[in-house]
Amino acid sequence: MKVIPLPLYHEKREGKLVLADTGFSYSEELANTASIFRDYLRKEEGISLREEKFPKINFLLDFNLRPEEYRLEISEHSLNLSARSDRGALYGVHTLIQLLEYGDGKHYFPAIYIEDAPHFSYRGFMLDIVRHFFDKREIMHLIELASFHKLNYFHLHLTDDQGFRFESEKFPRLNEIGSRRRGTILKDGTEDGIPHGGYLTKEDLREIVAHAKKFHLEIIPEIDLPGHTNAILAAYPELLCEGVNKKVEVRTSWGISKDILCAGNEKTYALLEELLLEIIEIFPSRYIHLGGDEAPKANWKNCHRCQEKIVNENLADEEALQAHFTNHFGKFLEKHGKTVIVWNDGLHPDLDPKIIIEHWKPGTRKRTVKAANSGRKVIMSDFLHLYLDYPHWMTPLAKTYAFDPLKGVEKPENILGVEAPLWTEWVASRSKIDFQVFPRLAAAAEVAWTAPELKDYENFVSRLQKLYSLYEKMGVNYARNKEKKPSILKRLAGTRRWWKDEDSEFRKN
Ligand code: ACM
Ligand code: ZN
Repeated sequence: MKVIPLPLYHEKREGKLVLADTGFSYSEELANTASIFRDYLRKEEGISLREEKFPKINFLLDFNLRPEEYRLEISEHSLNLSARSDRGALYGVHTLIQLLEYGDGKHYFPAIYIEDAPHFSYRGFMLDIVRHFFDKREIMHLIELASFHKLNYFHLHLTDDQGFRFESEKFPRLNEIGSRRRGTILKDGTEDGIPHGGYLTKEDLREIVAHAKKFHLEIIPEIDLPGHTNAILAAYPELLCEGVNKKVEVRTSWGISKDILCAGNEKTYALLEELLLEIIEIFPSRYIHLGGDEAPKANWKNCHRCQEKIVNENLADEEALQAHFTNHFGKFLEKHGKTVIVWNDGLHPDLDPKIIIEHWKPGTRKRTVKAANSGRKVIMSDFLHLYLDYPHWMTPLAKTYAFDPLKGVEKPENILGVEAPLWTEWVASRSKIDFQVFPRLAAAAEVAWTAPELKDYENFVSRLQKLYSLYEKMGVNYARNKEKKPSILKRLAGTRRWWKDEDSEFRKN
């Protein structure tokens, strides 16, 4: 059994099903997955399946199974994949792709019985397309890879200080001004003078959303508010707080900006509501991410309008104003059937209990767990385990694998699941995305999918070789030759080298 993430239950059987002029049939409801399976076999393995009434391979509907569940029975005579829906069947196909073997000139599936379903209902990956822009084609390939790891959410970080990457027809300056930066500040403090820009058109995004749907992922758009908004402020400077008498530009350096949207100005609310209407027209996802991270409050403290809002709304302080601001858009989006997610910086006693928090911030785990135990829904994206932008020396595979989303949690039903983010300050190419993400995403996927009591790191490592051979086939530049459990001294030294030169690890791959 070389499958990642490890299935819930499996039993090896005797024999194998050889693929040679093999017949195939499927329930019409599973036609999408049947075509993914058939295309994969044809393109990657040169195997053609014949449609046939009494075939060896059958994809069957079974309403006794749960929505994401599948059952696989392979004997030397037949292969039956059963699922309640196309989604469950697709997870079965991703398992089949990993089970397929080749020997003595023949492709075959080993005989096996599998019952499988995910532990967590939320299994996500996040890509930052602001710090470096990645286009439709690259995003669509990553969607397929995320699906292959049995993930079901793809969080697209669309806006930040360094760029605005969603096409807005209502606010064209967000693209004309906001989607381009003059250059990027290098490590030595100089600017490279190379303009960087780009955005996804609505047409691009419709294609991306349709592709994600085919692979049973929801695209969650993130419009980061009220901080990380220099690109918006460069385009619409009237949304700055009173007393900020300077021009904000699309930021050329990384880090946290003190310039954020004014939360006391009605124009801010009006523009964002209109923009969110454009967003929800493109993204059918039930979730909209509104950021909420790293929003320094100095401007709000010195702004008449923000202070007036605090008084008029009877708020305790600027942190309460951020909660009020988030709740406003939470209510607005709720009317459109959407639920808001914010980073856990936004957690506040006033925050609407329906708003989900995405836990990331180091040192805040206790507070997050307390919120979950008090009823708040949480997605776990723990910085030290799941941030894939950091070097393998700092966050080795074993560390990601060891993450326990439920530690200290008394109400496990409030932990929706797990997401692994990739921020791209130091990731300028698709090849480096692959290096940062794989195979750590496989470890994150096993954290999200596999029942916690079945997790075993040595066993996981023993299943990697097969995954690596599939990565090769799929053209994925995964991180090779990493020590499975490096010592703390090596980890410190490697991390230190990375801080000086973020490509130091990557170049050696
Ligand atoms: C974050 O890493 N600022 C969510
Ligand atoms: Zn203000």
